Amino acid sequence: MKVEPPTNQLKKELNGCEEIKIKLMDHSQVDEVAYIASISFAGMKDLSKARLWIACNLNAFPRCQYYVAEGKDGHIHGYILWIEKGGFREEAVWELEQIAVHPECRGRGIGSKLIKDSLKEIRNYIHKRGSRFKLVLISTGMTNQAQHFYEKVLGAKLVAVIPDFFRQDEAIMIARNVDADQPE
Ligand SMILES: CC(C)(COP(=O)(O)OP(=O)(O)OC[C@H]1O[C@@H](n2cnc3c(N)ncnc32)[C@H](O)[C@@H]1OP(=O)(O)O)[C@@H](O)C(=O)NCCC(=O)NCCS
Repeated sequence: MKVEPPTNQLKKELNGCEEIKIKLMDHSQVDEVAYIASISFAGMKDLSKARLWIACNLNAFPRCQYYVAEGKDGHIHGYILWIEKGGFREEAVWELEQIAVHPECRGRGIGSKLIKDSLKEIRNYIHKRGSRFKLVLISTGMTNQAQHFYEKVLGAKLVAVIPDFFRQDEAIMIARNVDADQPE
């Protein structure tokens, strides 16, 4: 299905970026999430491939968990994808695989809220099955300023650099102390 870019009305609504709720994503939201992915990542420009990749991940719940930032109008302003690594372990290791906020809504705290609120949901899920949340792995391009964002929001630290990964060197970051809420 073809995904249309936001209309002027939607752009106006997105400018509000208020009353955002973080919710588990459902299949009806694939198109909106694919659109945000396609305008946020060079490797996801092709909308039909983006839709397929997202739908595959969505089908892999609970190993893969998408959360969306939904406005009061029901539109999606951003999303986050978490993936559990190496099995459903007693010491759970999760990767923050992808996060993006609609370009018109960036810098207004939505990305931080997406991480913090969805992290709580992931932590609850891990604890309910009797595991401990050991760490979060994050990887991003060395020149992507998002490194500062991850350090600020999650306390993530740069631990390694992989040369020539996607289109450049990749920064590997780890956040520990994620098993309990951290003071603001
Ligand atoms: C990274 C991203 C998700 C951040 O979302 P956001 O809603 O803009 O983030 P917030 O408004 O919550 O910002 C939180 C803090 O991080 C900082 N920050 C966020 N993105 C930043 C960036 N790209 N560079 C530097 N600092 C950044 C903000 O300045 C803010 O700090 P402040 O509170 O001191 O002002 C968003 O910029 C985005 O979608 N980028 C494109 C996709 C991408 O690069 N994703 C991450 C790589 S996988």
